[in-house]
Amino acid sequence: MNIVVVGTGYVGLVTGVALAHIGHRVTCVDVDEEKVERMRQGISPIYESGIEPLMKENMEANRLFFMTDGARAYREADVIYIAVGTPENEDGSANLTYLKQAVRDIASAVTKDVIVVTKSTVPVGTNHEIQRMFKQLAPHVHIDVVSNPEFLREGSAIHDTFHGDRIVIGADDERAAAVVADIHRPFGIPIFQTDIRSAEMIKYASNAFLATKISFINEIANICEKVGADVEQVAAGMGMDERIGSAFLRAGIGYGGSCFPKDTKALAKIAANIDHDFELLKAVIEVNNKQQRKLIEKAKKRFGHLAGKKIALLGLSFKPNTDDMREAASLVVARELVAEQAIVVAYDPIAMNKAKSVLPKEVIYADRVEQALERADAAMILTEWDEFRQLDLSVYVNKMKTPIIFDGRNCYALDDIKKYEIEYHSIGRKP
Ligand code: UGA
Repeated sequence: MNIVVVGTGYVGLVTGVALAHIGHRVTCVDVDEEKVERMRQGISPIYESGIEPLMKENMEANRLFFMTDGARAYREADVIYIAVGTPENEDGSANLTYLKQAVRDIASAVTKDVIVVTKSTVPVGTNHEIQRMFKQLAPHVHIDVVSNPEFLREGSAIHDTFHGDRIVIGADDERAAAVVADIHRPFGIPIFQTDIRSAEMIKYASNAFLATKISFINEIANICEKVGADVEQVAAGMGMDERIGSAFLRAGIGYGGSCFPKDTKALAKIAANIDHDFELLKAVIEVNNKQQRKLIEKAKKRFGHLAGKKIALLGLSFKPNTDDMREAASLVVARELVAEQAIVVAYDPIAMNKAKSVLPKEVIYADRVEQALERADAAMILTEWDEFRQLDLSVYVNKMKTPIIFDGRNCYALDDIKKYEIEYHSIGRKP
């Protein structure tokens, strides 16, 4: 099988590397020459543990290639995976510009029958639209379109690809579905085969459901704070019910990243377009927007005003083990703190470079966590990096002006905190 992957973002690069690793010949195509050159040297454009050794191993085995010349790659391909981004339009809908460009490029290059697999998250009906575009633009060949949504998480993308819960294959044509199923079989992951529209919907419904779990537990946390219950105990007790499950019940300052915020809004928009008011999902989004401001609310209540207060912001990426700043809570928190005229000193183990280009220019950056805490009036923990979880709590006491912590990710056990003179505000737990 000669496989081509279009787009080398998270989904594309990980898919390409993983398919090469199970024995296929894979060419990853990207328009960015510099990026392709770096990937040829085994340098990954994304921060993802374990990816570079796999890139190198498969390049050395002559199974993995990178190129900018899409036309040449498409001509020789048996199967083409499209994994380009589908960012958010201003109205919340998915932007299909890159996807449609890829379709046009493929249509003008292919000279033999080919299967096109979409991994990009696309609104229901898009794959059929792509199918129509191919019929119109490349009538000389037969192109089957298969939907194969991706469920990997940033930070554990390689692990998730080899150990996922399911592989969803949506196709109208049995033969095309069988070819794609055969490609994926060596992963040893259950394959769920369905029609194209249902496959497209599975992706949105899964992300929306996980986002719902998060907003649900965050609302429970907000109530716990008022009634004196502990959300971690509540989540643990709920999660023991197999029908509920314990995953995605970690209360905090809400979900971020490139997927949940975008996909929830896109699904609400898909519903609105067919005159269906998806009230539940709209509430999930609204709860999340409010939750991202939770620490600001708590700090304002505690201090009255934040002007002139030195606040250490710990953790800037949208979650640990990634440098991705997209839709991170830190964007909202830093902006708000600056607007309140607080002095913001930020630290993140990995995401500092990316943060510098997106956080307000007033933010000061520290090289180490201790430096950020130096003489601070309060610390706000926004991302649960291990470095913070494992931090000796005496550091807060010794470095800060006043050891007040607003922990947006419940990094510390209340019993441990009690051993120190620390004023501790967390989410859904007694102070
Ligand atoms: C998410 C899904 O988990 C993947 O299955 C999906 O493939 C991906 O989106 C996508 O659509 O491409 P990802 O955005 O990488 O993956 O990150 P998650 O680990 O799901 O976390 C998302 C956000 O939810 C983070 O901000 C995290 O802090 C937050 N979260 C997660 C919570 O606040 N509580 C939880 O219990 C779990």
